[in-house]
Amino acid sequence: MERAETYKTNFSDFEVTIVSEPSGTLPLFETSVSDNQKEQLKIFNSLENNVPFVNAISFSNQVHFQNAYLTPIQRWFPYREGYSTRLVNAFIKELNITGNVFDPFCGSGTTLLASRQNNLNSFGIDVNPISVLVAKVENEKYSNADIENFEKEFEQLKMISKSDENFHTSFELADKVFNKDILQTLLQYKNEIKKFTNTKIQNLFFVAWLAIIEEVSNIKKEGNGIKYKNRKRTANGYINIEKDVWEKRVYPEDKFNYVKTKLERHLEIILSDIKNDFGNSDKQPNIFKGSCLEFDKLFSDQIQFTFFSPPYCNCFDYFEIHKVDLWLGEFVKNKEEFKTLRNTGFRSNTNSLNHKSILYKNEHLENLISLFNSEKLWNIKIPNVVRGYFDDTHSLLNKLYLQTTKGGYVGIVVGNSAYSGVIIPADVLISEIAKEIGFKVKNVFVTRHLTTSSQQKQELEFLKYYLRESIVLLEK
Ligand SMILES: C[S@@+](CC[C@H](N)C(=O)[O-])C[C@H]1O[C@@H](n2cnc3c(N)ncnc32)[C@H](O)[C@@H]1O
Repeated sequence: MERAETYKTNFSDFEVTIVSEPSGTLPLFETSVSDNQKEQLKIFNSLENNVPFVNAISFSNQVHFQNAYLTPIQRWFPYREGYSTRLVNAFIKELNITGNVFDPFCGSGTTLLASRQNNLNSFGIDVNPISVLVAKVENEKYSNADIENFEKEFEQLKMISKSDENFHTSFELADKVFNKDILQTLLQYKNEIKKFTNTKIQNLFFVAWLAIIEEVSNIKKEGNGIKYKNRKRTANGYINIEKDVWEKRVYPEDKFNYVKTKLERHLEIILSDIKNDFGNSDKQPNIFKGSCLEFDKLFSDQIQFTFFSPPYCNCFDYFEIHKVDLWLGEFVKNKEEFKTLRNTGFRSNTNSLNHKSILYKNEHLENLISLFNSEKLWNIKIPNVVRGYFDDTHSLLNKLYLQTTKGGYVGIVVGNSAYSGVIIPADVLISEIAKEIGFKVKNVFVTRHLTTSSQQKQELEFLKYYLRESIVLLEK
């Protein structure tokens, strides 16, 4: 039985309770549990021993981007992987943060935005150039002169009519991913935005342009990559509707106007947020493009609070998910550049294994890896993805420990994952690594339970509690 107590907290908006017993016990009828699962359970119980869990289901709507689609500024770019500013605000308030804030995986810049709203200095890093651009644009201060400039450019853009020029892109899949006329319109607008002379305003328009790409394309970002919208799942599997037939069905006759309207609507939203002064603050975050594993080379200021969500150890490849925007937006120009970019990412997927050696060893992790069923693993690199992930986590936490002020905090939003019916409980593994480094694990907030692929669902029924998304809070 779990024992819950009231947690004394300033999280005024969110009710949370302490859960003090380990979560897993054997079911009444032991025969339904395999030896492999009993072994997993032993490892989980050992890892969970003395972990101060907190039941924080009230955070469940804050750890994903759903609210952010409606939040001023955050809504400028749909960053699926992001969390809400409300979540960061709650921690800043609860922990009485007054010093420097850092996000080593800043994505669209949510932690930085919340820091600005609280008038705090902040630092952010990301390897993805789109994230860096979005984070910078969303955290910029816009003056009245900027607003005037925006309006002027906007009026000019509204006058544009369909060009007869044939625009080119180096993106090989462009003809598959877009309707021909929609692609031409997008490229025409990109060309127009390139002519702007004021970089600040140009970047705002460019983010608006990037933000509408998915909506006007034939693909959607889903799971670990992109899916074609003309592929429909039916009871008997997937069916492909022919591209031309599908496009005729969903796009209006006038493709130029279709894209123009979407872009103008998005620019109106951005303009309205700027005019309403949302996010206006004298604090300007310092945002760098690079790997978080080298953050100490980019700034040496002491940090009071680091709050972030790393890629999860689930083999999702962010570069694959963002590939259409990366190519069409000219962030990558050839395959070599794309490959290099992938290799700079955290080792969380099979494309990011850059032959870096694995130095950190964790007994619990090795025991879990030894339970993998190699025949059921969809890629032989998976054991090393998992090792590489915690090796990178160890390096990052080590560096964070050195640069965190005494009494400072690190908050990590992380999801657990599963391979061949074996769960990798990242939240408690990270807690263990942090303790080895010298951090105190203040709390592990369990925010929601996750689902897994249909192949593993039945197999994991008994262990499903461990498939969760948590916030690990560390104190130096
Ligand atoms: C879960 S997302 C963070 C989202 C962010 N919290 C937000 O609200 O927008 C993880 C980010 O880590 C970035 N990333 C992956 N490997 C990285 C690395 N080695 N260094 C810095 N950032 C990295 C990805 O590009 C992605 O933007």
